[in-house]
Amino acid sequence: MSKSKILIQFDPDPQTSTFDSVVAIDSGVDHLFRHNAVTETQVEGLVHGAIFTRGTDDLKSTALFFGGSNVEASEALVAKAKASFFGPMRVSLMSDPNGSNTTAAAAVICAQKHIDLDDKTVTIVAGTGPVGMRIAHLIAGPATKEGSNTQINICSRRLDKAEGICQQLRKQLPAGKFQPCETANSDQTNSAVSNAHVVFAAGAAGIELLDDSWQSLPNLEVAIDLNGVPPAGIAGIGAFDKAKEIQGKVCYGAIGVGGLKMKIHKRAIETLFQSNDQTLEVEEIFAIGQKI
Ligand SMILES: NC(=O)c1ccc[n+]([C@@H]2O[C@H](COP(=O)([O-])OP(=O)(O)OC[C@H]3O[C@@H](n4cnc5c(N)ncnc54)[C@H](OP(=O)(O)O)[C@@H]3O)[C@@H](O)[C@H]2O)c1
Repeated sequence: MSKSKILIQFDPDPQTSTFDSVVAIDSGVDHLFRHNAVTETQVEGLVHGAIFTRGTDDLKSTALFFGGSNVEASEALVAKAKASFFGPMRVSLMSDPNGSNTTAAAAVICAQKHIDLDDKTVTIVAGTGPVGMRIAHLIAGPATKEGSNTQINICSRRLDKAEGICQQLRKQLPAGKFQPCETANSDQTNSAVSNAHVVFAAGAAGIELLDDSWQSLPNLEVAIDLNGVPPAGIAGIGAFDKAKEIQGKVCYGAIGVGGLKMKIHKRAIETLFQSNDQTLEVEEIFAIGQKI
């Protein structure tokens, strides 16, 4: 008889994310262990508790989930967990701090439904946050063919910040064509999107980044706004818009992307329990989303 499915939540926040907990239960987890305020020094002990209790054949029924709002802190916990595994003594894990991996995967898949991303210009407005960086990573990586000439403009109010993010991305994907852009005012933002085929707005909640002049851009085919809190990040796109055509461009709002994001999140959790050796980070989560 197979063992019950146990998911162990590692969350660096003072309170464990209720969002992550609800999705876990809705994904068929039998028992959810919710750990809050987890620090790096506590990870090894928690992981050992997970891997030394069940026989190796049953380890696939235990899995770890790393979430919470502090992306850097959550990723540091993931690194510690990986270092605590050895040989077959490990369990599968998923990392989705602040929904960044599932959201970026869903946004890129939505764009791909309407445009082949090879050899295009893509602008990520406010692309320096966790979601924007992961969108850039996926476009330079698995969402385009090797040798593709896709240019990815990463925008920030500060050029040095955009440059720093481009450097981080180049370390992971040396062939990626990342271009930093300063967008400290609307003229600079309009210039950064002027020749784009695809625009993603990945800014903080409740901030308008683009006025409605984007609607007359000649090359633009797809516009995706991930900010769900009014005002919209891209003026004229509603949060619920899902493949809505506006002035000949296909548009998505945050909730329009959110349906696929939720499906990806749930499918990824289900996938964790297929074997004990999976590490689901941005690229693996994107691959799961592409099969939905
Ligand atoms: N649809 C969904 O299911 C879903 C799920 C998760 C997240 N989201 C949304 O996705 C978006 C991106 O998330 P995130 O966590 O990556 O965002 P974030 O880190 O909070 O912000 C992203 C970037 O926004 C810029 N920004 C912050 N305050 C600003 C201001 N006052 N004016 C202009 N720009 C400002 C910053 O860029 P610079 O400092 O470099 O300019 C920052 O790096 C958010 O709106 C979030 O709510 C949606």
